[in-house]
Amino acid sequence: PRVHFQWWKRPSGVAAVCLGLLCVLLLAGIIGLSVYYKLQTSSNTLTIERDQLQKERDDLMRKFSNLKQTCPEGWRKFESSWYFLSTVIKPWDESRQDCLERGADLVVINSDKEQEFLNNLNQYFWIGLNDSVTEGTWKWVDGTPLNTTRYWGSRQPNGGGGENCVLFLFSSSDQGKLHDYPCSDVSSWICEK
Ligand SMILES: *[C@@H]1O[C@H](CO)[C@@H](O)[C@H](O)[C@H]1NC(C)=O
Ligand SMILES: *[C@@H]1O[C@H](CO)[C@@H](O)[C@H](O)[C@H]1NC(C)=O
Repeated sequence: PRVHFQWWKRPSGVAAVCLGLLCVLLLAGIIGLSVYYKLQTSSNTLTIERDQLQKERDDLMRKFSNLKQTCPEGWRKFESSWYFLSTVIKPWDESRQDCLERGADLVVINSDKEQEFLNNLNQYFWIGLNDSVTEGTWKWVDGTPLNTTRYWGSRQPNGGGGENCVLFLFSSSDQGKLHDYPCSDVSSWICEK
């Protein structure tokens, strides 16, 4: 008689099929996982890029609206800041408080150009500098230390513990001088934002 060879009836054939199926499943699993992982990574990258782009857009829009806007009443512009010179006089801490209420702070002088700009206002005023936290350590209101001595007036600062706040005095012969004064003295002041 003709022998019908039925492979599925042989135990070794069944084992082979199972093994084959297992291989296929395993492969599918690996492919699935790696696709998932790839998608995850690229979506993370996309999220980071999107946040970056949004930040850049916001920065640009702010810069643009700064350019577009004319100075608010009473403020004048120099480089990337606006300045408000008070018309009344107050002690240092009340002067600073006024600036904070205007969304600004007492001026921090960052460059020779800014020093020159302030001197050209032909006035004297409180600036955002004092040493009332540590005597002799002059700090700007933004927390940075005063890193040059060349704008002190001659023999300034000279008040020790009694004169912890700094006044800007204009001068027609140079770029203006800083003097230490008692913080409770009254003066006009200048805000920057
Ligand atoms: C002093 O500090 C200002 C920032 O407040 C900075 O722009 C300037 O480069 C500094 N100058 C020196 C000599 O470190
Ligand atoms: C000096 O300035 C700091 C901020 O830099 C401020 O906290 C402190 O109150 C000021 N001192 C006085 C006497 O106002």
